[in-house]
Amino acid sequence: MRTPLIAGNWKMHYGAAETAAFLEELLTEERDPGVDVVVCPPAVALPMAAMVLTGSDIGLGAQNVHWEESGAFTGEVSALMLKEIGVQWVIVGHSERRTIFGETDETALARARAAQAANLEVIFCVGETLDERDAGETFAVLERQVADLGALDPGHLVLAYEPVWAIGTGRTATPQQAQEAHAFLRLRMSALFGGETSESLRILYGGSLKPANTGELLPLADVDGGLIGGASLDVRSFSAIIRAAADCAAGETP
Ligand code: PGA
Repeated sequence: MRTPLIAGNWKMHYGAAETAAFLEELLTEERDPGVDVVVCPPAVALPMAAMVLTGSDIGLGAQNVHWEESGAFTGEVSALMLKEIGVQWVIVGHSERRTIFGETDETALARARAAQAANLEVIFCVGETLDERDAGETFAVLERQVADLGALDPGHLVLAYEPVWAIGTGRTATPQQAQEAHAFLRLRMSALFGGETSESLRILYGGSLKPANTGELLPLADVDGGLIGGASLDVRSFSAIIRAAADCAAGETP
């Protein structure tokens, strides 16, 4: 039985003051303990978030991390620096990092390894573009993106399947598209880590997930929660998604 995980990827939204206000409000919401919740604010807001979340069971994640501990890497932040201020999670290989900032499978893996070496939990993102899907290359792309993840510790790894064409577009994968991609990824994880480990590894869906479509995506057999962008920026919609995940885990239809 996999505990559902709902992670909010705030991207470049909310500075320190807005982060504090958001999290103080989120903490007043009643939350089912059967769902793991993580928020990933921008790097500059992480110390504020860590302070507000002290003593709460909401996890704190960064959106990126460098693969070296320190050095001449202008603009970058190391895993140890994140760890020091109380960050527990990090998103790696997000499609915006891949398409806008030149992230490759190799650099994503290096970041994930460095994060795990510093005892951070990794949310590793994969997913095909629309051109790749239209060309029938979805599974080949996913296979390539996870091919070397055997170098990671699966006990501190979460995968996020995020079809690039569904991110921020309002389009979502159909339940069938999502389930077959997730099942494929679980099969690949089984090849890398063995069946038992792959059964306990969480695979999140990401891409325009919002309260209105949790009912069709969260109950899928191999979907273990969500990585949420836009809908995580509003306390009410983020909380509604968390409640839907709790309902799914309890065997109820959200
Ligand atoms: P979205 O973003 O929910 O706004 O589509 C998801 C993501 O990029 O992680």
